[in-house]
Amino acid sequence: MTNKVKNILVLHGPNLNKLGQREPDVYGTETLDSINSQIRDFGKSNNCKIDIFQSNHEGELVDKIQNANSHDAIIINPAAYTHTSVAIRDAISSISTPVIEVHLSNIHAREEFRHKSLSAPVCKGQISGFGGYGYILALNSVVHI
Ligand code: DQA
Repeated sequence: MTNKVKNILVLHGPNLNKLGQREPDVYGTETLDSINSQIRDFGKSNNCKIDIFQSNHEGELVDKIQNANSHDAIIINPAAYTHTSVAIRDAISSISTPVIEVHLSNIHAREEFRHKSLSAPVCKGQISGFGGYGYILALNSVVHI
């Protein structure tokens, strides 16, 4: 762990506000509030200032990515936009801030249309299949790598 405070932006894409009720057989029963409080707890114990934002709108996510100059890293679950959004991919490509992609489910073990991520090739890495703990794995990678 370094002494310098790390500023981290966590972005959640569409439908992730419905976690807990949404397809619990795929995504589990944990709510987004519960995941966010674990993210905030991690921040408190690891000298990180964490901003969290969820949106169902592609352009709002693009705006957040474009304006993340003051953040040391972005952790993003683009949700369904992972597989469709050239705009989010281009926004990630346009900034120098490292971006880590997270998925709750293992997208590679699901329907074929989910196997392709448009954003992963322009991210530092992808974490997929570890539920809400994937965000903690991503935070650890920002803090320790
Ligand atoms: C997801 C996987 C996507 O395919 C899906 O559209 C989501 C959630 C995940 O976290 O597993 O909404 O990003």
